[in-house]
Amino acid sequence: MQRTKIINLLNSKQEIDIVLVKGWVRTRRDSKTFSFIELNDGSCLGNMQIIADQALDNYEEIKKITTGSAISVKGRLAKSKGGGQKWEIPAENIEIISMSPESYPLQKKRHTDEFLRTIAHLRPRTNKYGAAFRIRSELSYAIHSFFKNKGFKYIHTPIITGSDCEGAGEMFRVTNLELDNLPKKDGHVDYSADFFGTESKLTVSGQLSAEMFALALGDVYTFGPTFRAENSNTSRHAAEFWMVEPEMAFCDLAGNMELGEELIKYLVAYVLENCKEDMNLFARFVDKNLMPALENILTRDFARLPYEEAVNILKNAKNKFEHEIEFGKDLQSEHERYITETYFKKPVIIFDYPKTIKPFYMRVNNDNKTVAAMDVLVPGIGEIIGGSQREERLDVLETRMDEHGLSKEDYWWYIDSRRYGSVPHSGFGMGFERVIMLMTGIRNIRDVIPFSRTPGSIDF
Ligand code: 4AD
Ligand code: MG
Repeated sequence: MQRTKIINLLNSKQEIDIVLVKGWVRTRRDSKTFSFIELNDGSCLGNMQIIADQALDNYEEIKKITTGSAISVKGRLAKSKGGGQKWEIPAENIEIISMSPESYPLQKKRHTDEFLRTIAHLRPRTNKYGAAFRIRSELSYAIHSFFKNKGFKYIHTPIITGSDCEGAGEMFRVTNLELDNLPKKDGHVDYSADFFGTESKLTVSGQLSAEMFALALGDVYTFGPTFRAENSNTSRHAAEFWMVEPEMAFCDLAGNMELGEELIKYLVAYVLENCKEDMNLFARFVDKNLMPALENILTRDFARLPYEEAVNILKNAKNKFEHEIEFGKDLQSEHERYITETYFKKPVIIFDYPKTIKPFYMRVNNDNKTVAAMDVLVPGIGEIIGGSQREERLDVLETRMDEHGLSKEDYWWYIDSRRYGSVPHSGFGMGFERVIMLMTGIRNIRDVIPFSRTPGSIDF
């Protein structure tokens, strides 16, 4: 007999003669003649109530079942006589798969997020983290369905790369050389002896490869892990995170903004419709303002604001900022939050940033001062999307590469794409973890990644 998932049983329309469920015990309590077990199998937030009658052969053993133990139960799915739940299973047979000792760390009490981070291998067994990771899974599907519906092709861009897309030098090196004996040439590590014959790194973005495929397949996207060695120990940055990167041929910055806004709204609507029970947990216990905040995103147009105007707003603000702002400086998170949370009180797309603070691939505007860049900011999170129209003009691109001190030899393939059938094209990257933070009200990125990688910690 195959096991049925508890979610399907809790949604059942009728009683079922015999079912088999398997899961982990959340609690057990005894009355004189029965033992009541709350069983969870991770398929949903809800538990199945199992009733063990003293007539069962192994009742003495059942009465010793501890929190965290794994059991298998056969019985009838019956309307519950007690209050609190609709269904229960009066067990005909209970098999103890494995008994958990009393030292099981997840006893029935509230644990702090900090503590649960130290047991990241067990925390998905709690209500909150089970819900967060189910939502993470649902959102992954939602992203694929969004792009599939729009006729985008899903492409897999490499994890190991020779190029630095963002030019920020925040890359992890990959090497097969013996670290304590690296060969040197002119005082530098000689990577010609390396596996790839050159220096190789973990990717910070799939964009440059995605561009090549947009210029062949039209509309494409990547969705995969990316890596940043930025040593910013913040609640929004991880060293390993997942990024969603659409790239569209024949598309300008306005089209790019439209897609970003549509995608975020689609994802909000999707979780509200498809993850009701789990979302309810977050709205009740994690962020009381979650539902109004998501409604606000869903129903209002995102503001669109040139960078220069954003700077003016910030200069005129009564707020005292830690970092002073002026044209040519990057917006700090305090500035972004002021613009989206205090000034507009809704999502804002800032565009046309100074070219001096942006990577080489962004399209230079006619003013020759700014580039066709955009950042989407949302209240509570700050930057969730960063993107741009790409520089499609060969001569301008080459000038920009010179300005950035990039080797045209190394990027020959990228430059080639501007030589053969170059077209205006645009794309962006959306931080997947930040999306989950937005949807759940969880405010630390470490708590939306199964096993997070942040500076100074890699236990699991
Ligand atoms: O703004 P970023 O750096 O843009 C790029 O990498 C472009 N190449 C993307 C593109 O145009 N295809 O990163 C994009 C998004 C950010 O807006 C943020 O949401 C997320 O990725 N992000 C991070 N998320 C978690 N931890 C980090 N260290 C992140 N760095 C960026
Ligand atoms: Mg950015």
